[in-house]
Amino acid sequence: MADTKVYRASTTAPVNIAVVKYWGKRDTKLNLPTNSSLSVTLSQSDLRTLTTASCSALFPASEGDSLLLNGAPSDVSGARTQACFRELRARRASLEAADPSLPKLSTLPLRLVSENNFPTAAGLASSAAGFAAFVRAIADLYELPASPSELSLIARQGSGSACRSLFGGYVAWRMGAQENGGDSTADQVAEASHWPEMRALILVASAAKKGVSSTSGMQQTVATSGLFKERIATVVPANMAAMEKAIAERDFEVFGEVTMRDSNSFHATCADTYPPIFYMNDVSRAAIRAVEAINAAAGRTVAAYTFDAGPNAVVYYLEKDTEAVVGSFYHVLGGVDGWKTAAIGGLKPLLALDEGV
Ligand code: ADP
Ligand code: DP6
Ligand code: CO
Repeated sequence: MADTKVYRASTTAPVNIAVVKYWGKRDTKLNLPTNSSLSVTLSQSDLRTLTTASCSALFPASEGDSLLLNGAPSDVSGARTQACFRELRARRASLEAADPSLPKLSTLPLRLVSENNFPTAAGLASSAAGFAAFVRAIADLYELPASPSELSLIARQGSGSACRSLFGGYVAWRMGAQENGGDSTADQVAEASHWPEMRALILVASAAKKGVSSTSGMQQTVATSGLFKERIATVVPANMAAMEKAIAERDFEVFGEVTMRDSNSFHATCADTYPPIFYMNDVSRAAIRAVEAINAAAGRTVAAYTFDAGPNAVVYYLEKDTEAVVGSFYHVLGGVDGWKTAAIGGLKPLLALDEGV
């Protein structure tokens, strides 16, 4: 009798916000980066992607694979989405070849339904949570015996930053040296519980879709920026070393300074791109000034801003400084032009880091 079952698996994945940024590909097909990067995985109870993957012989083969993203059909024909489908199907196919009693899911059309509970394509790492959830939902559907490392390698091919969202806590993506990308994957530097006082505050300056996608922006930077060469040769290697040490020693002064410097360095290469790319806006710059004022008042680094490819700020701080940081932001926002309409209501303190998956 024909198998008319609908097979289904759901999963969630967290966003991660880099403190040493990935920006630049040395291989655009395999998504291999020009530099290593390091991020903090945020709490899934606040920002997350929820994805359900299903397959069935009842789904018409003529419709092929599909993705419904935030309620709207989304293109899956791109080479990177296709690479994820291919890698996952190949693993399922070898399980099926080894055990003929398994249902033949690898040949069935896949339907994915995904929802982000935060702004998509606005510089809050939707592609990271999105592709991590995409890959894990299909791996779960296929019952693959894949480790987070293996899933990380596949998710990287969907979106580079996604390879870091398969792990909780502090996560490094080592650029690797192999041409096939076999060693370009993420690993956990420290668990969230290693530094349980760490907090992140998200300031939504604008939830609008960015004008230049991360993929396209970094390719323009690689092609035209001289400053970028300096960044990958000396700035990032030094920041990676300093950051790993700061995390190991739970040294917030260094963690904060390197985070802010690396964000500034990344946005400087965007400004040095020709024509220039501006991800930050006046509201973003007001957030930088607010952090500086908070740190000046405290007489030490208690808050550290970072901006991905978008105008929205993530501010890292320690639990004991909540009052100084979150309290000051609420106070400052009212008085700064742009914040009132842009950010009130979008100010979202995150209570904890993700514990891992
Ligand atoms: P962001 O700063 O949000 O990561 P990017 O420009 O890197 O922005 O990527 C945005 C793209 O990531 C979206 O246009 C979409 O193609 C993809 N994406 C976002 N969320 C998901 C999701 N939940 N599932 C699959 N793909 C997603
Ligand atoms: C600024 O991972 O979104 O957020 O690999 O082309 O999908 P693609 O790009 P993406 O780039 C992220 C850039 C960044 C920094 C970072 O997350 O490390
Ligand atoms: Co992204």
